[in-house]
Amino acid sequence: MNKIAQIFETLEYGPAPETPDQANAWLDSQNRKFGHFINGAWTEPGKTFASTNPANGEKLAEITDGTSADVDTAVKAARAAFPLWSGLSGYERGKFLYSIARMIQKHSRLFAVLETMDNGKPIRESRDADIPLVARHFYHHAGWATHLEREFPDHVPYGVCGQIIPWNFPLLMLAWKIAPALAAGNTVVLKPAEFTSLTALLFAEICERVGLPKGVVNIVTGEGDTGAALVNHSDVDKIAFTGSTEVGKIIRAATAGSGKGLSLELGGKSPYIVFEDADLDSAVEGLVEAIWFNQGQVCCAGSRLLVQESIEERFIAKVKKRMANLRVGDPLDKSVDIGALVAPVQVERIRDLMKRGVAEGAVVYEPDGAVPANGCFLKPALVTNVSPANTLVAEEIFGPVLVAMSFRTPEEAVALANNTRYGLAATLWSENINLALDIAPKLKAGVIWINGTNQFDAAVGFGGYKESGYGREGGREGMGAYLKPKWEKELKPAPLAKSVPAKAANPLDAGHLDQTAKMYIGGKQARPDSGYNRPVHGAKGDLIGEVGDGNRKDIRNAVEAARAALGWGTSAAHSRAQVLYFLAENLDYRRDEFAARIKAQTGEDGQKEVAQSVERLFAFAGWADKYDGAVHNPPMRAVAAAMVEPLGVIGVVAPPSRPLLGSVALIAPALAMGNTVVLVPSDRSPLSMTDFYQVLETSDMPSGVVNIVTGESVSLAKTLAEHDGVDGLWFAGPADGSAMVEKASVGNLKQTWTSRGLYYDLADPRFAGDYFLGKATQVKNVWIPYGA
Ligand code: NAI
Ligand code: MG
Repeated sequence: MNKIAQIFETLEYGPAPETPDQANAWLDSQNRKFGHFINGAWTEPGKTFASTNPANGEKLAEITDGTSADVDTAVKAARAAFPLWSGLSGYERGKFLYSIARMIQKHSRLFAVLETMDNGKPIRESRDADIPLVARHFYHHAGWATHLEREFPDHVPYGVCGQIIPWNFPLLMLAWKIAPALAAGNTVVLKPAEFTSLTALLFAEICERVGLPKGVVNIVTGEGDTGAALVNHSDVDKIAFTGSTEVGKIIRAATAGSGKGLSLELGGKSPYIVFEDADLDSAVEGLVEAIWFNQGQVCCAGSRLLVQESIEERFIAKVKKRMANLRVGDPLDKSVDIGALVAPVQVERIRDLMKRGVAEGAVVYEPDGAVPANGCFLKPALVTNVSPANTLVAEEIFGPVLVAMSFRTPEEAVALANNTRYGLAATLWSENINLALDIAPKLKAGVIWINGTNQFDAAVGFGGYKESGYGREGGREGMGAYLKPKWEKELKPAPLAKSVPAKAANPLDAGHLDQTAKMYIGGKQARPDSGYNRPVHGAKGDLIGEVGDGNRKDIRNAVEAARAALGWGTSAAHSRAQVLYFLAENLDYRRDEFAARIKAQTGEDGQKEVAQSVERLFAFAGWADKYDGAVHNPPMRAVAAAMVEPLGVIGVVAPPSRPLLGSVALIAPALAMGNTVVLVPSDRSPLSMTDFYQVLETSDMPSGVVNIVTGESVSLAKTLAEHDGVDGLWFAGPADGSAMVEKASVGNLKQTWTSRGLYYDLADPRFAGDYFLGKATQVKNVWIPYGA
């Protein structure tokens, strides 16, 4: 026993252990062996593996490695439960979610202790962050369920959702997945991560206790193969995944062409920017939270410190001093800051990455002091002397390792911050509100924290840009991600094109045409790189014109021009509206000429299509300054400004039918929201859009905002899909082309919309609103604290 005088001498903490007794009692009551939770009942355990406590290596329980047959049984149960669950009123579903939230609060200690034992995170965090956020998520979505019919009219749930979650926030990720899915009326099959399934199994018991109808929530445990079986199951309507970018890409490729909904919340390498006028002591405390919270195993961890050169030395000294006070040890000790990493394989992975970084020149600082000899413990580490190419700067480490670099000017900070394939979150510290609010919109990330970090709330959407994935969890956006328009389920196959035999087969025959339509790139007419043209045939098969036969090179030039024109996205919405109105006006002015061109190509009366196109331009001009964000009020002294931002460059491959409207209906919403566009017009009837660039030129459209490349649709779509400079791709065409586009989009995880061979009647007013506006945008939440 320490004498008080001795304590004063060393100022050591005494132990403050949290008891594991109740969690052990619960595990014992289950004989420490679990089957799956399917159709409201527990299955017999199958082939099992151990779930261990990474702080001491002790086995906690045996859990079942789910087979594809298990997954199939669970999907069938979820399917069978769907009519009943989705048929309940939102209010009825809301009451179940409310009961779940209450039960979680009531048993919050048990959940927190079990989470800490299974995952290794400090009890302080599971008790004060994870579990309260879980309860908050269910409460919040109980409210959404109640208001669903009013807030999302004419929307329906997907059906059966397959949900796959990681091990870093086991119960919190379960809540982020299950709460909105159930609120919307979906039923779910959830696969927890293999290292951390226990709180999901305890949650299953909560579902039983609140009398949730059987089959609404099914929990199937297992490893990656079990997840893959769920992804590939043909009767799953949507996959929601959180985990590594690597597996996210596998899932994108695996679901390509299936029509399954998909949301991906993936990795990150988020910058933590400290300007010279920051409150440095607060910024140091923030940094502790940013990179040592949950041992750094956080997708949005502020793992890249960017500090202004003028304060670099002072700030780094403060960080080192603070690091020496971080206590690494038993996660069940209430005054421990850093617990155990999730598993030995993660410790090895981190050590390997550090070795690589050091070999490349990095210098690693670790504070003195010991960490427990057994268990998955690592000291906090600070890495300096690195260039942007160092492995430790480029790769997601997912451990307690901070990488530091410096910058001189705000512009340089933005450039360094955005120099990553990820875009999940960013933090910035400055006492100058003008500077902070100038920088926040320039950071390419889904969540920005000003003078704070790692803040989360159910009312505020969370999710990434770029290779950090797509879709949002939380907030209205997150709710919307579990619903689809009712009519989407009723689409019919697109009618096959009437094939009229072409009359001119000899390329030389085209020579008598006086004019060959050029492509339009960077505000200039461009000849095709291939040097070849394509004949265009009229409704009766006669040759009516020629266009350039575009290839990869033309697409690359067009993308380059579109990227150079991205300033369009930061121009005032009012100005974009004016340009779109002007386009409408100038198209209307030439309506007879455009109508005649449509008639020549399709044989249809073109007047109506021109009128619809003018109206559509008018409609989206009207939207440009109205489809905007919200201000959320999370339960703390902060607001979160949900800003609607463009994706960037959108490739648009227009449908074969409706030569004018088919393109205009797709580019108008993209342009209204500030995207720049590379358009591939109908390959059968491209002449309306090659005429259209004359309208563009007379309407004050800045160069490079709209680029038009004619040629064979599917092969140009492939080039666009594979191009890392394209941020989104819309493809209206056949099912096999759609599958190809989705598969080829994995390189930079661009967001895709494909028509999958179905008929989207683009003249329908339902396409004059938020359907495409939503797909043309992504929401960035900027957290702004207030109060002194
Ligand atoms: P992971 O991405 O493999 O695991 C996440 C989940 O996906 C688990 O439930 C796993 O069983 C499942 N899964 C694995 N392969 C699958 C497949 N082919 N199809 C369907 N589901 C599959 O992550 P892992 O291997 O546990 O961690 C490796 C690294 O990934 C970490 O060191 C970290 O860098 C990163 N990671 C990032 C996360 C984030 O939230 N950003 C979360 C977890 C890991
Ligand atoms: Mg475990």
